[in-house]
Amino acid sequence: MFYGLLFYTAPETRDLFPVAMGVQRSRFLQALIHVLQTVDRPDDVAIFLRQLGRDHRKFGVLAKHYEVVGDALLRAMAEVSGPRWTPQIEHAWRDAYDFVATIMRDAAESERGPAVWMARITHHQRLLDDLAVVRAQTSVPIPYAPGQYLSIEIPQRPRMWRSLSPANAPDSDGIVEFHVRAVPEGWVSRAIVAHSNVGDVWRIGPPMGQLTLAPQSERDLLMVVGGTGLSPALAILEELVNTRSTRRVGLFYGGRDVADLYAIDRLRALSRQHPWLTVIPVVEHGDEPGDAEVGTLAEVVSRYGAWADRETMISGSPDMVRATVSAMLEAGTPLIRIHYDPFTAG
Ligand SMILES: Cc1cc2nc3c(=O)[nH]c(=O)nc-3n(C[C@H](O)[C@H](O)[C@H](O)COP(=O)(O)OP(=O)(O)OC[C@H]3O[C@@H](n4cnc5c(N)ncnc54)[C@H](O)[C@@H]3O)c2cc1C
Ligand code: HEM
Repeated sequence: MFYGLLFYTAPETRDLFPVAMGVQRSRFLQALIHVLQTVDRPDDVAIFLRQLGRDHRKFGVLAKHYEVVGDALLRAMAEVSGPRWTPQIEHAWRDAYDFVATIMRDAAESERGPAVWMARITHHQRLLDDLAVVRAQTSVPIPYAPGQYLSIEIPQRPRMWRSLSPANAPDSDGIVEFHVRAVPEGWVSRAIVAHSNVGDVWRIGPPMGQLTLAPQSERDLLMVVGGTGLSPALAILEELVNTRSTRRVGLFYGGRDVADLYAIDRLRALSRQHPWLTVIPVVEHGDEPGDAEVGTLAEVVSRYGAWADRETMISGSPDMVRATVSAMLEAGTPLIRIHYDPFTAG
């Protein structure tokens, strides 16, 4: 109803959106839920909304659109709520929307960096049937922090922006490495794994996310990563190496089976070079697990206790992140020590 009202009252906004809108619909709702859930942590909310506002420039969103979107949203909510939509509630929602929209709009207007970077694919290697490592190069390096993610658009799927996490720390040559898993029925991921080519030009949006190395903390680290959720961990490990850090890192690296752990040799080599890094492979299926632990990441990590003295970062599919956060909270890990990006918790 919201989008119907928006496109009816402001038809020019329809062209900003892709034809198939399932993904945007769920992201918009998730963003609102995330703001509501974290509204009592104003600093985090403001960082999130400023990033989102800067990111919206790449869609062609202008300051004037915030008003028409807010009107359509409130009218749709009033329509759906019926008699439960009181003036008091309307007032509260109007305030909430204005709070969100003002931060996003101001961040977009004051940003001097580009809305998008053009990146040329320099390397494409299919490591597994459903997984590829892709390197893209920009003429000016994208100023992301290790652990952040970027949203990308590929020429094969115009206007379908998707988030990917760089697997390296920012590089002065402007090279960003991505690890991409093709999900069944996935529009963009399958095209990247099967059809992207060296020479393709991708558009990349500004950095987002707060899953960076907590620089204000000296605590040791725990990384719990599944599949391509390894990427932000690799970027952070590279930063730790570059800064000669001595913080201890425990890395639980999970996959469906041993063959799925595509980067295990690279991690083992890193751990031999840097004794502060301990890698624990985890597989869900027990046939020939080798030295891997068997179980879900949530089960295996919490078997070791609460890890209360560590900063913990969790990265992977929404289901994996949700299960791991729950298991760790139950094991006694303080919430304040657990870090993950909002959308990855689904
Ligand atoms: C912060 C963040 C960082 C990310 N980093 C990476 C990364 O480094 N590498 C990477 O490969 N992906 C990453 N993703 C996931 C990526 O953004 C896409 O969601 C994923 O590639 C699917 O896009 P698609 O267009 O192929 O699928 P869509 O066409 O959007 O979806 C097709 C179907 O697949 C389902 N689906 C979507 N995502 C998944 C999933 N992860 N597992 C199972 N089913 C799914 C959908 O519900 C839908 O039914 C990240 C996501 C977020 C939010
Ligand atoms: C309260 C204000 C808003 C919130 C919380 C919000 C939230 C979001 C989120 C979370 C995404 C997905 C981001 C991504 O995948 O990179 C998104 C995408 C998008 N938003 Fe917004 N948005 C807001 C306002 C607006 C406005 C005013 C417009 C202008 C019409 C707009 C247009 C779009 C478009 C075109 C997309 C891309 C859709 C797609 O890729 O499927 N948004 N928005």
